[in-house]
Amino acid sequence: MELPDGYSDVPAGKMASVVTCLEMLAPPPVRAERAAAPWQLRRERVPDAGWYRELYARVGTEWLWFSRLRMPVAELEAVIRHPDVEVYALAAGGRDEGLLELDFREPGECELAFFGLAGSLLGQGAGRWLMNRALAHAWARPIRRLWVHTCTIDHPGALAFYLRSGFQAYARRVEVADDPRLSGLAPRDAAPHVPIIEPTR
Ligand SMILES: CC(C)(COP(=O)(O)OP(=O)(O)OC[C@H]1O[C@@H](n2cnc3c(N)ncnc32)[C@H](O)[C@@H]1OP(=O)(O)O)[C@@H](O)C(=O)NCCC(=O)NCCS
Repeated sequence: MELPDGYSDVPAGKMASVVTCLEMLAPPPVRAERAAAPWQLRRERVPDAGWYRELYARVGTEWLWFSRLRMPVAELEAVIRHPDVEVYALAAGGRDEGLLELDFREPGECELAFFGLAGSLLGQGAGRWLMNRALAHAWARPIRRLWVHTCTIDHPGALAFYLRSGFQAYARRVEVADDPRLSGLAPRDAAPHVPIIEPTR
């Protein structure tokens, strides 16, 4: 169904965001990155669901990422251990502080499925460092298209960062979902930039 012009009511207890879908059809020029960066990238070949969820939550709780938190463990492990899915951690000071997930399950394509840093690393050049490695790993396989989506609940700089990275916007969607803070999937005090609207009793 097409969305009508004007405002559309979102039920209390739900959250809504505008999603921008972006793609690139060829490897972009490499952007300069911070010299002598103190980070390492490690591919986790058989990711443990507990380890994955902990990192996913540390990166994504502030931006209300929830999809992987509510997925049953067996289903989650089937995705993150799939031979055509690559999961990487960015390690800083001996701790995993960034998550990169490349999904090649669709032949000829790659989805930058998850990409982000824990709060302690934001704004220090680690995003560009991680993106340069994401692009190199994605385009190392015989793909014709790399795509990603980001939404208005994500970090406010993420969309501009993806555009600078060489992605072009091709579609916009509205996403409505249960607020994960109301079901206990995310802490109540997460993401103060998206206030909770309590369902009416
Ligand atoms: C999107 C995201 C990865 C961007 O990372 P960031 O830390 O904000 O950005 P960075 O500091 O790495 O990069 C910003 C720019 O500053 C530059 N920069 C910052 N600090 C630098 C330094 N010390 N030395 C050199 N360059 C530096 C980077 O090279 C980059 O330049 P460019 O984009 O013009 O090429 C990050 O905001 C994030 O993880 N957000 C939370 C999760 C999220 O929203 N993910 C996206 C949705 S799926």
